[in-house]
Amino acid sequence: MTEQIKKVRKAVLPVAGLGTRFLPATKAIPKEMLTVVDKPLIQYAVEECIASGIEHVIFVTGRHKSAIEDHFDFSPELESFLTQRGKSELAKLVHDIGKGVQFSSTRQSEALGLGHAVLCAAELVGDEPFAVLLSDVIMESAIPATRELVEIFEATGSGAIHVERVPRERVNLYGIVDAKPEAGSLWGDKLWRVKNLVEKPSAEEAPSNLGVTGRYVLPPEIFGYLAKTKPGTGGEIQLTDGLCRLAEDNKMLACIYDGKVHDAGDKQGFLQATVDFGLKDPKLGKDFRAYLRGLKL
Ligand code: G1P
Repeated sequence: MTEQIKKVRKAVLPVAGLGTRFLPATKAIPKEMLTVVDKPLIQYAVEECIASGIEHVIFVTGRHKSAIEDHFDFSPELESFLTQRGKSELAKLVHDIGKGVQFSSTRQSEALGLGHAVLCAAELVGDEPFAVLLSDVIMESAIPATRELVEIFEATGSGAIHVERVPRERVNLYGIVDAKPEAGSLWGDKLWRVKNLVEKPSAEEAPSNLGVTGRYVLPPEIFGYLAKTKPGTGGEIQLTDGLCRLAEDNKMLACIYDGKVHDAGDKQGFLQATVDFGLKDPKLGKDFRAYLRGLKL
């Protein structure tokens, strides 16, 4: 009997990290609330979820992260304040944040790694496939990144991740896949069958230069694997190590992402993302471009 593939309705957003790369900015503010132009990083990820047909967003939070939940909560006082002052456009903007999705949160009480953070969401996810989005990466493409992975999962029943080619000297910052092209798929030469993955290998150990971007759609079996995963790279329970078990079951695909990956997880990437999105902003873009052109570099 063929197993029926369930629809992907839920997404897990791990947001428990301490954001030490951005101190002192993140002393009292979650790094996910740092803004690129006028939206916090986490809102880009939630908007990607909505555009991908996700119905339920699950935050895996830690201490001092309540600003994230507040951001997606209704704010009747602010909305009526804005409406009374004739700022109905802003009132709608505030009202519509996160509209159309349900939010839940659970706590990761100890910083034991990304795999552990995902495992913390097991009960809220239940026995169904789900997406994982790392919110310090903004993915920009015509087809939303998570939607593309949902389509791959729903067509194949295999877990799906996005990868991008990264310079050899940067493979130690990523999960790197060992994969071979998947013959005859609807996604042509973009789709690869994953044989193995290595978390943050050295350039010598890296099996390829295909780095995991931070978008995943996974079957619920991953939870059983993560529960058995021992601490790996950096002494943490790595999601990548759980994905290796799915790859052993021949249930892991990698799709070469053809959009732009803005890795805003460190200061350099964050500044670059700010410039990229500033230039594209319909209201600010023109003047900002003129400003950058005028800089004596
Ligand atoms: C995490 C994952 C890694 C992935 C990366 C993408 O690492 O563990 O496999 O390639 O995100 O940004 P982090 O950047 O959180 O150390």
